[in-house]
This record gives sequence, structure tokens and C-alpha cells, in this order.
Amino acid sequence: MSLRKKFILGNWKMNLTSEEIQRFFSDFNESYNPKDKLNVGIASSYPYLELVKKLSMDLILTGSQNIHFENSGAFTGEVSPLMLKDFGTSFSIVGHSERRQYFGETSTVVSKRARAALNHNIIPIICIGESRAEFEAGTTFKIIEEQLIESINNCLFEGQKIFPVIAYEPVWAIGTGLSANKEQVDAVHLFILDKLTNLLTNLKLSTDSVSVIYGGSVNTKNCGELTRLESVDGFLIGGSSLKPVELNEIIELSF
Ligand code: 13P
Repeated sequence: MSLRKKFILGNWKMNLTSEEIQRFFSDFNESYNPKDKLNVGIASSYPYLELVKKLSMDLILTGSQNIHFENSGAFTGEVSPLMLKDFGTSFSIVGHSERRQYFGETSTVVSKRARAALNHNIIPIICIGESRAEFEAGTTFKIIEEQLIESINNCLFEGQKIFPVIAYEPVWAIGTGLSANKEQVDAVHLFILDKLTNLLTNLKLSTDSVSVIYGGSVNTKNCGELTRLESVDGFLIGGSSLKPVELNEIIELSF
């Protein structure tokens, strides 16, 4: 197994009310077994950050689904890194394909958000991934390279202590029940790791600093074989993370 950090992160997206979150944790906590060196976390909607932190009894990391790049100011509807830090947020998802697709987030903005997170010791989970049309046109690697380089711009610098995580999420695999197979995941992860190695080496940073996780219809059936791939450092999980029993099972079966 590589020395890169391992993560299993849930992305609840715009789901679960406070009552449902209470129910989630009364089930989840019953069978959750923390594993050495595995970072487990959940990204809830903003209003529930504190509730998730309290109910999870700090046994897992709490995260947000986005982050703004300024500390304060006239940015209606946004939440700043200072505010997130206030709530003990450990990680922030940036550039999720749903943000790129429905809210016009560009890789340039994603890179600013990610850098702001790093500046406040919050781990940015930078999402990249090709659409179905791009996949079918055979342009996956071109798209991945463009999104990776533009989104990570300014997020690697000499002497840094906290690093971004890259989440490879093929858009066609999100919420479709159609996960990428292990050969597809391995090929793209190795490609990303190769690009990262160049960037890190140029800055004299350890090539094990940046983890690469997979997202897209991860479930109890496919998690085992995917985590056995040396190139996979964990998951960003949507649907299956809403079900406490299933999430715990994925944690058990992975790594
Ligand atoms: P699903 O696991 O529901 O496919 O969602 C993946 C995702 O978008 C996580 O960010």
C-alpha cells in the first residue's frame, strides 16, 4: 500500500434534515469502527455542520460541500473559510461536477477556493471528471489533465504542510449505479498520479503528499476491489453515504 493518506468521505449533497441526521448517527455510531490511518468524514449541507460534528462525537471528520475564497464581504449566499473553520470543518469539497454543471464553476474559481481552504488548514477535495459525451469521444485523459492542472493551480507550493486531495468522479458514474470498472479507475488514477508526481517533484515536495480518491456509484459490492488498487486512496461517496449501515460496511470492506 502506498504512503498516501486514505480517505472515505461521504457527500450528502442536498439531503437529510436534522431529524434524519439524528437517525443516521444513532445507527452509524452503533457499528462504526475507526480504523488506524483511515480518514472517514462526511460533508453535510452548511446548516448542519455543527449537528454532524456533535452527533458524530468527533469520531469522524466533518466537511462542507463548498467554500468561498474570501474571508468576508459582499458575496451573498457564500460561506467563507473563516466561518467554516469556526465550525471545525476539516475538509471542503470543491469543483464537484454538480457545481460545475449547474452553477457554472470553472476550474479557475475551483483553484481559488481550494487555495483559500489550504490557507486555513482545511483540506480541499478537488473534484475532476469527464462527462459521458467526453468519455464516449475518447477524450477522458485530455479533460482530466486540463481540469487537474487548472484546478490545482496555486495549490501546491514549496514548504506546504497540508495538501489537496483529488477526487476522480466520472460524471457518467455519479448517481447512475454504473461505476467505472477497476481498469478504467486504475488507468485514470495512474494518469493523475503521474501528473501530480511531476508537479510535486518540481517543488521538492513528497510524491506521496496528494491522495487520489474515486467517486461514482461506490457501494458495498465494488468498494473492495477498487481499494485493492494501489492507485486508489479511498472514495467520495454520494448515495451510499446516506445509509449508515452501508457506509459502515464500505469502511469495513475497504483497506
Ligand atoms: P454517488 O455515489 O451517488 O454516485 O455520488 C458520487 C458523488 O457525486 C460524490 O461526490
